[in-house]
Amino acid sequence: MRVQSQPTQPFAGQQPGTSGLRKKVTVFQQPGYLENFVQALFDVLHGVDQPASGQTLVLGGDGRFHNRTAIQTILRMAAARGYARVLVGQGGILSTPATSAVIRRRGAAGGIILSASHNPGGPDGDFGIKYNVANGGPAPEKFTQAVYERTQVLEHYLTVDAPDLPLDAAGAQALLATEIEVIDPVADYAAVQRALFDFDAIRALFARGFRLRYDAMWAVGGPYAKAIIEGELGAPAGTVVNAEPREDFGGLHPDPNPVYADDLVAHLMAADAPDMGAASDGDADRNMILGRGFIVSPSDSLAVLAAHADRVPGYRAGLAGVARSMPTSTAVDRVAKALGIPCHETPTGWKFFGNLLDAGQATLCGEESYGTGSNHVREKDGLWAVLFWLNLLAVTGGSVESLVRGLWRAHGRCVYSRHDYEGIATESANALMAALREQLPSLAGQTVAGQRIAWADDFAYTDPVDGSVSRQQGVRVVLDDSSRVVFRLSGTGTEGATLRVYLERHEPDATRHDLPVQQALAPLVQLAEAVARIRHHTGRDAPSVTT
Ligand code: G6P
Ligand code: ZN
Repeated sequence: MRVQSQPTQPFAGQQPGTSGLRKKVTVFQQPGYLENFVQALFDVLHGVDQPASGQTLVLGGDGRFHNRTAIQTILRMAAARGYARVLVGQGGILSTPATSAVIRRRGAAGGIILSASHNPGGPDGDFGIKYNVANGGPAPEKFTQAVYERTQVLEHYLTVDAPDLPLDAAGAQALLATEIEVIDPVADYAAVQRALFDFDAIRALFARGFRLRYDAMWAVGGPYAKAIIEGELGAPAGTVVNAEPREDFGGLHPDPNPVYADDLVAHLMAADAPDMGAASDGDADRNMILGRGFIVSPSDSLAVLAAHADRVPGYRAGLAGVARSMPTSTAVDRVAKALGIPCHETPTGWKFFGNLLDAGQATLCGEESYGTGSNHVREKDGLWAVLFWLNLLAVTGGSVESLVRGLWRAHGRCVYSRHDYEGIATESANALMAALREQLPSLAGQTVAGQRIAWADDFAYTDPVDGSVSRQQGVRVVLDDSSRVVFRLSGTGTEGATLRVYLERHEPDATRHDLPVQQALAPLVQLAEAVARIRHHTGRDAPSVTT
């Protein structure tokens, strides 16, 4: 067994997006494609061809098709770089939040996560790779940009001529001088949750007959939810459904929203619905929460957690602050104001929360894209959100619906929806955004579709901790009554472009809280069309996904 230098040449487009490098599986299957990215990553981390002496790397993925192949490739390359240790999840499995937990608890230098999150898997699906740094969070943009630049000039990569390692049983083995330790994917993660939540209270809740349906969407959240919710918290067997990770997620789209988790929604709308429904995505960092006959919007979920955080042991001391991505509704801003704590507004992408969490400026964070989390790890955490809700239900005696309605009563309802136009031509999407940006200077004061625009801008963010500036993070058009429409292009798709249109209107009048959301937002949809000419640019009459 020895280190080999394999000749290679750059591949175009190895540019990480909102959350790592995501491409079709077939792209990753090209000889050298993954190797180039990993060599570039190690070159930026350690210096060109330099060893990672003394360091520990965490490695795992969401179990999707190509996961096992990619894990073996990376193990060989890590050994060639002389890592002291690689902690790899058993069977190559580690959810995204669990990877973050393992990095932090084991003092690792960083971790590689193989996932395309909520994107479909299988031979025709998507694959992805992402690097997380020592705090357990996604590497910052400056770093990923450096990796990209390195991918464009590579001429070789280092690996080891060794056969595949067995990864299905826990234990340590050696690859050259590197110790490869296969770890239980759940243990570290469960320890973190145990320290945050009142497991006794949740156990008592289930003992009283509380019924939960947790849909793991055939993804990596299954083993975690089974071990913790059914195993430790005593929920009846069968509480967690679709729990065995499959390489193609059962042919479904592992994204917990009302469109792709329609089966779960149907169960919660049925006559014999359980008390609560929940789902997590491909790599288990996203979550959706439902009550009996009631869907909770992610923005409202974040606001409810923030409002009642002091009822949960891990947050009893109060929150230092909260943070949300810009397109997320302002519900949590209102809660923060009432609590007298700061609320930070960041660009889309969990990585932007990292500095705020590290600096102790925020405790809870969340996004409209079904992501919620806290300073316990540096990723959003699907099962954490479910445990948080369970803990609140156990100690308040309320229902999912009553907690959300309590939020609306106290602060008004932020009526919210996101309209996605998926798979449109990249040039059309860019033209639409460019036309919007051109109009920006003249929008304020105009009346469009019968509504007066108070101001409009292209969101830019200055990180309060490191001073870095991120521009062009979404065009905001805000009305006199603070209703708003936000336009941005997704950074996580793999085919063409996706235009996201985020609509929000604050409704203080409780007698209007039950108006159908799309009806309440119809005037804003008209405004969006008038300002952005979506039909003209995309040729689409309606969004492909509405959440
Ligand atoms: C991932 C990221 C999130 C982000 C979401 C949507 O889940 O971790 O931070 O909000 O993708 O991103 P997009 O660029 O597709 O709107
Ligand atoms: Zn995810």
